[in-house]
Amino acid sequence: MSNETLIELINVTKEYSGKKGRVTAISDLNLKVSKSEFIIIGGPSGAGKTTTLNLIAGLDRPTQGEIILFRRNIKDLNEEELAKIRQEKIGFVFQFFNLIDNLTVLENVMVPMIPLNIPETEIIAKAEELLSELGLIGKKNRFPRELSGGEQQRVAIARALITDPDIIIADEPIAQLDEKAGKIVIDLLLDARKRGKTVILATASQALIDELKKHADKIILLERGKVVNKTGKKGK
Ligand SMILES: Nc1ncnc2c1ncn2[C@@H]1O[C@H](COP(=O)(O)OP(=O)(O)OP(=O)(O)O)[C@@H](O)[C@H]1O
Ligand SMILES: [Mg+2]
Repeated sequence: MSNETLIELINVTKEYSGKKGRVTAISDLNLKVSKSEFIIIGGPSGAGKTTTLNLIAGLDRPTQGEIILFRRNIKDLNEEELAKIRQEKIGFVFQFFNLIDNLTVLENVMVPMIPLNIPETEIIAKAEELLSELGLIGKKNRFPRELSGGEQQRVAIARALITDPDIIIADEPIAQLDEKAGKIVIDLLLDARKRGKTVILATASQALIDELKKHADKIILLERGKVVNKTGKKGK
């Protein structure tokens, strides 16, 4: 079924307690992620985009509301069960990359495959293929600190794609990239989508939203934790 619901956020509010008291990062958000959809989450810095992605991916729990991940209410899941769902189903490109400092580029990309029972030579071949596509094969033995921001971003993208996950979540995936590298990454995401993957992309860039608009099933614009505009294709 092509419009099967994979993830649902129901009246979700997320508050953080910081030095200056409580901050409401997301307020009363409703969102459905269906199979094969391409969803864009837009809005200015601080609007709640990363918070929303973390909730969608089960990386964080809401203060209020319900989150259904693959038909399971996350209230009924412990951290280990949540981690297993993430590991099997979701590839996450973090805004600030979250690469492992003491692993090489190649090893960082291989990380999500290690728990799977697959021969190492196969994992290396897959990691090298992605690194080649992303123009980074020449740097496979370097450490993250020896790379530019844009190069680190591409390593994070390769790592998110290596397991060929059902859902790819990308937080500002081209913010640090030049035009050519940005186009490669966008093409990889659109190509994944063509193969039936679900892609969720967050960006503060209106230019990027305009560029991707024609491919998107839903565009959700956030401001101060609230949805200010939601557009979608017919029937979504
Ligand atoms: N761990 C945290 N503790 C306290 N406040 C937080 C935390 N994470 C985010 N916030 C606050 O929640 C709000 C939403 O943050 P979020 O990171 O989701 O925004 P964003 O839309 O991703 O912004 P950017 O475009 O700058 O990445 C902001 O006001 C932010 O300061
Ligand atoms: Mg963010």
